[in-house]
Parts: sequence; C-alpha cells; structure tokens
Amino acid sequence: MRAKGLELKRPDQLLTMRRAGLVVAEVLSTLRDLARPGATTAELDQAARDILAARGAGSSFLGYGADWGMAPYPAVTCISVNEEIVHGIPGTRVLDEGDIVSVDFGAIVDDDRGRGWHGDAARTFLVGQVEDDVAELSRVTEESMWAGIGAMRLGGRIGDISHAIESSVAAHRRPYGIVREYTGHGIGSQMHMSPDVPNHGRAGRGPKVVEGLCLAIEPMVTMKGEGTAVLDDDWTVVTTDGSWASHWENTVTFTKQGLWVLTLEDGGEAELTRRGLPFGPLAD
Ligand code: MF3
Ligand code: CO
Repeated sequence: MRAKGLELKRPDQLLTMRRAGLVVAEVLSTLRDLARPGATTAELDQAARDILAARGAGSSFLGYGADWGMAPYPAVTCISVNEEIVHGIPGTRVLDEGDIVSVDFGAIVDDDRGRGWHGDAARTFLVGQVEDDVAELSRVTEESMWAGIGAMRLGGRIGDISHAIESSVAAHRRPYGIVREYTGHGIGSQMHMSPDVPNHGRAGRGPKVVEGLCLAIEPMVTMKGEGTAVLDDDWTVVTTDGSWASHWENTVTFTKQGLWVLTLEDGGEAELTRRGLPFGPLAD
C-alpha cells in the first residue's frame, strides 16, 4: 500500500524485512570482531560476502548506482576510516591502532513471490585503543541515532526525528558537526525510498509517521566541520576540514505496539526498554 508516495508494509513484508535485518546484524557483529589493527578493509568485505552467501541473501550495495549512470558500487560494505564519513570502498587499506572505522551494510531477502526486501545499518568501530575524544564522537553519534529512533511514533512527523537527532548532538559542549548533504531514508522494496530523513530540522514538520513505514535513521557526525567532498574514486565521502567522522544507522519501524529495530539482533529490546520506549515486535 502507498500513501503520498510512501511504501507501507504489510505484516508479512515486515517479517521479511526483519529477516534481512537479522543478516545485517550478524554481518556487523562479525565485522566488529574483525576490525582489529592489521586487518585490511577488503578482508572485512570478504567476510560480509561469505555471510550473505551462507544465508542466501543479496547485497543492497553491490552494483548500486548503475541505474542512475553512476559508477556501480564495487563492494557489499562501505568502510569509511577516520576523516572518511560514508561510502568508503573496501580495499588494501590496513586498519591501524587508534583508527575509527564506520561500516555500513545492506542485505536483501526475497519473500515467497521473489520480491526483495532490504535492511540497512551502520556502526562505528574503534580499532584498538582510540583517543578519548574520538571514542566520545562515536558515543555521541550513536546516542543521537537513539534520540532519533525514540522520536519516531505513529502520528508524529519525520521532522520530530530530525530535530531529536540535531538536539542530541547539540547538547554536548564540543561543537560537533552534523553532515547535511546526506540523510536517512525510507527503506523497503528498495534501499533508498521516500521520505528523506534529515539529521537536522524542525519538529512537527514533514511527512507523517504511519504504521508500515520503515526508516533508515542514520546520523553522520564530525569532530568539527560539516563540509563534505567526494574523492576521485567517485564514492568516498570525506570531511573537507579533515576532521574525523562517525556514522550509526538502523532500520526501524513502528508497529501498533511500538518500535522495532529490524537491524539489531534483539530488535532493540534492551536499549528501548532502558530508555522507557515501547518495544513492539511482530510475532512470526
Ligand atoms: N547504506 C548507505 C545508506 O545508508 C548507502 C550505501 S551506498 C552504496 O544510505 F552505494 F554502497 F550502496
Ligand atoms: Co542508509
């Protein structure tokens, strides 16, 4: 069903998205353990490919962009190190003690009609011992993602989510930057769908949150500037001031019962409960 161009999922479709989300969760927790000093980013990408194959799932990212005349994305993960914000291409780069590495991953699981449904999530991993202010950047970014998730409710607006993310980042003494050129998004039978979910904005504005809507909520926060540039590889987005960046993302829906984080193994239960937010998974 579609309302104002938004794809609203039936329960059976949400359950297929949950299966995609669980593949995403499995890949990201495996890659967290592999993101050690001395590992190459290509090794992480290969581990993600192996899990996709083992689970019979497809990649949301591999080949992405070809339909829009862009260079097709060549990997199943985006791995962005330090001043790289998003869309870093895995390769021969060796991870170093003290790096932060943002890993973004999307999986597709087919329903029984052969229609594919997407899950999309990102985490920032600390490689070995990391400077305190850098570790803090990742915590602040993750916290702002949860603030955004917690602002999602039936009858609320996308702007509520945007505003909650922005306020959460702004609540810290350090003047962090919020990346504005890239946003969260609707997700479902395609990875990127309406509506956009900006990481800044005004509460009460934008499309309404309704049952069956699925959103990828994904703040990108930097230690300083908000400017971005794309490298010669056509994909890697970096900060223009060289400041380091963090990226956290989950695919989330709001059922009659409450929030359901499709890309976390526990559906978000632990964190939502800790925050006094309603946890509303569908039974399968
Ligand atoms: N997962 C990213 C997002 O959150 C997009 C990845 S771009 C791709 O929107 F080219 F790798 F697909
Ligand atoms: Co996304």
